[in-house]
Amino acid sequence: MEKINAIITGVGGYVPDYVLNNEELSRMVDTNDEWITTRTGIKERRILTEEGIGTSYMARKAAKLLLQKTGVDPDTIDAVMVATTTPDYLFPSTASIVLGKLGLKNAFAFDFSAACCGFMYLLDVAANMIQSGKHKRVIVIGADKMSSITDYSDRATCPLFGDGAGAVLLEGTTEENVGLMDSYLRTDGKGLPFLHQKAGGSVCPPSHFSVDHRLHYIYQEGRTVFRYAVTAMGEDCMKVCERNGLNKENIDWVIPHQANLRIIEAVARRIDVPMEKVLVNIQRYGNTSAACMPLVLWDFESQLKKGDNILFTGFGAGFVNGASYLKWAYDGDQK
Ligand code: ACO
Repeated sequence: MEKINAIITGVGGYVPDYVLNNEELSRMVDTNDEWITTRTGIKERRILTEEGIGTSYMARKAAKLLLQKTGVDPDTIDAVMVATTTPDYLFPSTASIVLGKLGLKNAFAFDFSAACCGFMYLLDVAANMIQSGKHKRVIVIGADKMSSITDYSDRATCPLFGDGAGAVLLEGTTEENVGLMDSYLRTDGKGLPFLHQKAGGSVCPPSHFSVDHRLHYIYQEGRTVFRYAVTAMGEDCMKVCERNGLNKENIDWVIPHQANLRIIEAVARRIDVPMEKVLVNIQRYGNTSAACMPLVLWDFESQLKKGDNILFTGFGAGFVNGASYLKWAYDGDQK
């Protein structure tokens, strides 16, 4: 039997219209554009302000655009998967809501939880499903409404996060040397104390106490997370490069998780890849968690060429981290 490779054949994205810039943030908490820009690289982020809509709204918009651009028959989609930390509800899954709104008739749907590595991990899971030959065409979405768990009275975290969604179509091909080539995915279960949401789950269900004490927001020890991210992503990239003969000459693009420009620059230095090859949109969106990587693909799709070597790398709560190597499968922009 011929080997099946899993290739990305299209990208869709969505960010809300509302732009929350550093100037507006500095009227909400004791901060300023200079601090945020030099410490993080972020200038503005998009916020889903309308009441009564959540992550599935953005995920559906991204997936709808993806279906329009690629022109695939929705009835041929086998699965919809959403990586998210901010599901619409604890149940049912956000993916099932997306599937319903898209009117998909022959697919199954599930959510996937790996914080900011959600999309990269899920891409690997979905690629394995495709490579098995059992599934032919799946939609992989990274989507987060980080504003729903961000404390806008905490200046240490509120500048960092934003809302958005990105979706890719993953399909099988018997063409050789294309698609997801390798992944090195890691989890260090010691990350809990440094990055988590204290209340809202089964350990500490929502209560007056949890709300009064603002426990339903992101809690983070920034410096610890920063150090971990730089070391872990650097090592993961080296591992994937070594295993696949990748180096600064033949890597075309690095797509890092967009958490902090200083982290991204430090990782680029560690793997000795010039910043011209590192795709960054953190200035405009901030950290959209699972949406970061597919939103980079969406923003830079027009620059990607068939055969380009792309190195993904990310980290997040858990801690989760890793790197993946993907060979891009088509030329330019389908928009
Ligand atoms: N404006 C002005 N001053 C601030 C702000 C702000 N927004 N936030 C913190 N400060 C102050 C602090 O109070 C501190 O003051 P002090 O020295 O008087 O005590 C000073 O700035 C330095 O604070 P640090 O926290 O040490 O600043 P640092 O340089 O580490 O930057 C940051 C903080 C941006 C959060 C950084 O640590 C970082 O990016 N960490 C990684 C975060 C990250 O990537 N998280 C990923 C989440 S992924 C997921 O799964 C959700």
